[in-house]
Amino acid sequence: KPTPPTTLVIFGATGDLTRRLLVPAIINLTRGAMVGDDLDILGIGIEPGDDETLRGRLDDFLAGLGDGEPLVKDPAWARLRQRISYISGDFTGEGIYLEIAKRLSSAPSGNAAFYLAVPPRFFGGIVEKLAGHGLAAENENTFRRIAIEKPFGTDLASARALNAQILSNVDESQIYRLDHFLGKETVQNLLTARFANMMIESLWNSRYIDHVQITAAETVDVGSRGAFYDATGALRDMVPNHLFQLLAMIAMEPPNSFDAEAIRNEKSKVLKALRVYTPEEAAAHGVRGVYSGGWLNGAEIPAYHETPQVAPDSKTETFVALKLYADTWRWAGVPFYLRTGKAMTARDTEIVVTFQPVPFAQFRETDVTRRLPPNKLVIQVQPDEGMSLEISIKSPGLSVDTVPVSLDFRYADQFDIGKMTGYESLIYDLLIGDQTLFQRADGIEAGWAAVQPFLDLWAKGGDPEAYAPGSMGPACADGLIERDGRHWHGLGVLQAKKK
Ligand code: BG6
Repeated sequence: KPTPPTTLVIFGATGDLTRRLLVPAIINLTRGAMVGDDLDILGIGIEPGDDETLRGRLDDFLAGLGDGEPLVKDPAWARLRQRISYISGDFTGEGIYLEIAKRLSSAPSGNAAFYLAVPPRFFGGIVEKLAGHGLAAENENTFRRIAIEKPFGTDLASARALNAQILSNVDESQIYRLDHFLGKETVQNLLTARFANMMIESLWNSRYIDHVQITAAETVDVGSRGAFYDATGALRDMVPNHLFQLLAMIAMEPPNSFDAEAIRNEKSKVLKALRVYTPEEAAAHGVRGVYSGGWLNGAEIPAYHETPQVAPDSKTETFVALKLYADTWRWAGVPFYLRTGKAMTARDTEIVVTFQPVPFAQFRETDVTRRLPPNKLVIQVQPDEGMSLEISIKSPGLSVDTVPVSLDFRYADQFDIGKMTGYESLIYDLLIGDQTLFQRADGIEAGWAAVQPFLDLWAKGGDPEAYAPGSMGPACADGLIERDGRHWHGLGVLQAKKK
């Protein structure tokens, strides 16, 4: 489906997100003819300059991107480059909005998508100004859409206030709240894996599933993002957004269709079913950690507390692990263990679904009281996207005993998925008007409601527990799951197999 002629107005055009992800994604879409020459880009930024200034800055950055041939030499960039223009000005003043209005009125089509790649404190104000200047008004022939980056709010109250401010100016159907995890191929595959496979979906409930683990482990440390990160922490940065999107895809009921609203209804329903803990329950169901200084992959990294722009007495966590429940018929009693952290042993985003053990092991050489290893379905979101199914087979030879093996599928072995930024499908969907991969107000608020008890609890004091860089996180995270007689899945297992 070709994208309609549109002006993509990017607020924050001179920022990191625009050059690192948005522009490369649009280059990929241009190369693949997914967007045509009727997409114009109008950049807005605080830095002084004109069209050539922005184009030149992008040239410089794109010179360092790409496999082999730098992206700046890509013919798709040459085509896109000439359609980029720039307005310099203050997001909070009136001037830029008057100028945007002028440009849009002379654009070949009146369609516009406003992309807010700016710090969150500007989100509400920009939407108000756009509406105030009549720039958000749609009619039968033209659309006006607004894409908003994360973080959407910093807690339940601020997310509600931001939704209220936005929705008093524009309609929900015009709002595209981004969560870039939804742009990942394997995240979209979660619904296909479940709903295109009878074998999987028919076992997908508390009768057959013992527990679910959702992990987003990173090896990167906080580095130069100290100011942002110290005010945010691992819980706000990753859980109510990225990890809850994965949880929603795993736990939602089958939608009646693949329409945006049908899917978002089901996702919201399950997020609303996440149990909201009392303070005592929160204390028993969540732990946090912070990395100390040391060596990671051959490089020495400073302790979190020695990171530039981090308060030396900061209580901010760089690791969090939670045990949550979705109180629904399907998931009653099935714990969802979530964990995410920086400076860990491997980059590994994965979902591990552990099935119930067989009730009885009657094999000749097997001690009947022994618990056989349960089946596990491991969905590797990144890197090395793929899926593994752990099953037991007969160990070869004369004895009749069992041994666990793994059936592995790796995308890279069977498909050429190319090098994508993950933003391609999100930008494409924004342009064609498909909201499936974007978050709705109620889903966002449900997510914040479930993490709010932890935010409240940890705001009262206490310190995150230290963990060594290159580890699996603090000891308290092991405690959280091991007291239930379960264990975290190893990190980087699929990468290790590849070697
Ligand atoms: C961002 C967080 O939203 O997601 C970062 O702010 C995190 O802290 C990043 O590193 C992880 O995304 P990805 O796509 O690299 O897994």
